[in-house]
Amino acid sequence: MEKIRPEEFRQLADYVADITGIAFDQSKSFLIESRLGPLAAELGCANYQEFYSKIKSNRHPRLVNQVIDAITVNETYFFRDQTPFNLLRHKIIPDKIDQKSAGASKLGNDLNIWSAACSTGQEVYSIAILLRELLGDVFKWRIRILGTDVSEAAVMAASRGRYNQAEIERGLTAIQRQKYFKQTGESWQVTDEIRAMVSFRQLNLLKPFKGLSTFDIILCRNVAVYFDKENRKLVFDRIANQLSANGALLIGSTESLFGISDRFQRREYLNSVFYEKQY
Ligand SMILES: C[S@@+](CC[C@H](N)C(=O)[O-])C[C@H]1O[C@@H](n2cnc3c(N)ncnc32)[C@H](O)[C@@H]1O
Repeated sequence: MEKIRPEEFRQLADYVADITGIAFDQSKSFLIESRLGPLAAELGCANYQEFYSKIKSNRHPRLVNQVIDAITVNETYFFRDQTPFNLLRHKIIPDKIDQKSAGASKLGNDLNIWSAACSTGQEVYSIAILLRELLGDVFKWRIRILGTDVSEAAVMAASRGRYNQAEIERGLTAIQRQKYFKQTGESWQVTDEIRAMVSFRQLNLLKPFKGLSTFDIILCRNVAVYFDKENRKLVFDRIANQLSANGALLIGSTESLFGISDRFQRREYLNSVFYEKQY
């Protein structure tokens, strides 16, 4: 493969921004090369212009998904950063339950949660495990935890719910591993009880959200950091539309909504931050 030329970089970076919202400036051209180079070589392309022409030709229907899978950073692990899960356990979910129990007839006993860039599913299963631990008899509640991601490969892995030894050891206690997963050979399969609480689908945060209901709680963590400011504004505005009144939003520990959206009220609890929908 020839080295990427500046005009090829621009073309591919614009294309990637268009399909994922992930913004690369010229200083990151090595990232485009290291992530897309192997795919281009696999397709027998001599240079990136040829690769781009192949993508645009529509003769390779799987190629768009392969580009997305190669570009996205899927780093995640169970109970990542702990703080948001402590907030869910000690503040957000108990508050939601109180609200719903108080207005039982109106609000019902359903609890809808959305993990809006769920990668390979660890965030989603962590929420399911937390709810199982917190609520005991989860069947009294109609719990729906939806995980979505732009990467088809990530969504498929999440849906499978099977993790290798290194993945299962990141963030779970030995008791949680034994209780909520079944070891089969080298891998650990999430139990049917936990799997039944969750569902997954492919969804691009930059495209209109079709067929989504409203949620009591949304997690959109460690994804908007890859977007430019305009796209961040767009995504969090759309997310506000999907939250029910007073719904809670959790973002990544290094992220902020300052200058991005005024539709949320910043809340602090036990030195941790979450956001509540204002309007
Ligand atoms: C670093 S992971 C974060 C996973 C999880 N939320 C966490 O914090 O552990 C970022 C995820 O965002 C996804 N992503 C990137 N661009 C996206 C987009 N436009 N729409 C939806 N998901 C996107 C990637 O595929 C990746 O799985």
